[in-house]
Amino acid sequence: MSTATIAPPAVSQTKNLINGKWVDAASGETFETYNPATGEVIANVAKGGKADVDAAVKAAQKAFASWSVTSNRQRGRLLHKLADLVEENAAELAGLEVLNNGKPIAEVMAADIPLVVSTYRYYAEWADKIYGETIPVDVPGFFCYTKKEPVGVAGQIIPWNFPLLMQAWKWAPCLAAGCVSILKPAEQTPLSALRVGELAMEAGIPAGVVQIVNGFGETGAALVEHPGVDKIAFTGHYETAQHIMAGAAKTLKRVTFELGGKSPNVVFADADLDQAVAGAMTGIFFNQGEVCCAGSRLLIEASVHDEFVAKFKAAAESHTVGDPFDPNTRQGAQISQEQFDKILSYIDIGKKEATCVTGGERSGDKGWFVKPTIFTGVNNDMRIAQEEIFGPVVSVIPFKDFDDAAKQANQTIYGLASAVWTRDIGKAHALADKIRAGTVWVNCYNTFDAAAPFGGYKFSGQGRECGRDGLNNYTETKTVWVNTAY
Ligand code: NAI
Ligand code: MG
Repeated sequence: MSTATIAPPAVSQTKNLINGKWVDAASGETFETYNPATGEVIANVAKGGKADVDAAVKAAQKAFASWSVTSNRQRGRLLHKLADLVEENAAELAGLEVLNNGKPIAEVMAADIPLVVSTYRYYAEWADKIYGETIPVDVPGFFCYTKKEPVGVAGQIIPWNFPLLMQAWKWAPCLAAGCVSILKPAEQTPLSALRVGELAMEAGIPAGVVQIVNGFGETGAALVEHPGVDKIAFTGHYETAQHIMAGAAKTLKRVTFELGGKSPNVVFADADLDQAVAGAMTGIFFNQGEVCCAGSRLLIEASVHDEFVAKFKAAAESHTVGDPFDPNTRQGAQISQEQFDKILSYIDIGKKEATCVTGGERSGDKGWFVKPTIFTGVNNDMRIAQEEIFGPVVSVIPFKDFDDAAKQANQTIYGLASAVWTRDIGKAHALADKIRAGTVWVNCYNTFDAAAPFGGYKFSGQGRECGRDGLNNYTETKTVWVNTAY
């Protein structure tokens, strides 16, 4: 599919999906959704509230009773069918994603869409491979085995930075395991999720198995507090996760979290510097820096610091920022006025603490574009080194030697991802052992696959998504004891 031919598509769906039907909010309320590249309103979307969540939970419980006992292979076939439909409608879905999120079309077609399709396919293949064990208990006359059973109704609350992919990471393992989902898309980016909801209905996924309730934080909180929801899967800010954890405590819900980071991208002097610069570019400027695992702390060995920064600055200055529908664009618009303001305020803080070597201001005069921004002379204690900015802003921090790199890499509340660049394989493994983070990339950055677990240590989360680990979030283990002498 050539990205050159993709234009903004028409919006096909703006309602809530409840019990297989597209419905307005019970209150009749709607909210506006924007095109970040222009700041213009694209559509008005149904604003779900408590009553809508309540209706969805009732339908979900009914759907769970039959979906959880539906043939495993049939569940797998339906997920494959959904993957087929996503593939067939890739250009339209990509267009909606670009229109509503502001990310570049070339990257959506190269990264988001293929990852979405492979996530549905990967978990489709798991549907008939979820099983327990026979346990050799030391109790004569007893046979003991475990079963993996679905947790039940999952409330899934997703962010705006990868709307299609986060929906896939939530829906695919949930459905494969026999659970049902009530999805709450981010208020900034409901459109692509709603289109996939239509495709799920077209695929023949039964009513109530996947539902979508649009809205803001209160709508998410209504899911968290509802006694009929068994589990919450959330991706977003750790402060939101803290609210969710507290809210979920009342009903002792299971929770899994994928939160943000301040990931160290560590470059040793013996690295291939050109490749490391390319990795640093991907690490911080991919998806406008709105990436939970962004390499926002760039740790450079002091002896190559100046050479690295010169190359990195040149690369950042040749990065194309602009119209997300232009296939040559590498960096699009930030998601919202709020996020744009947050990024610019961190840039102001950075200018007081450190040296801005390039960028440091908005790009253009329409939409929410920010120039690729590099700060040097950053000390790891500074706010721009410790707080998640979630924009195209990187802090370059020098280090002395291996021990200093390992120490600074871990001096953060977060632990989502990290990378190390070196030609010394021993050093690479040694640092991979030391870093307390869920992912370590060696001589690469932002590599993903549906089969590879992803998630965080510390403030970066709880549980893992993708891979076999991703299924564990949606199953309970049941142990069955049989008295064989009975
Ligand atoms: P957020 O964490 O508030 O929002 C994420 C999702 O949670 C949205 O669907 C939102 O409606 C929902 N939500 C908000 N409050 C809730 C509540 N009390 N209960 C249940 N659900 C709730 O993130 P926000 O405000 O969009 O962005 C703020 C910052 O969070 C960003 O600047 C960035 O630093 C970080 N972030 C991290 C993401 C990641 O992938 N780890 C994704 C998005 C934001
Ligand atoms: Mg928020």
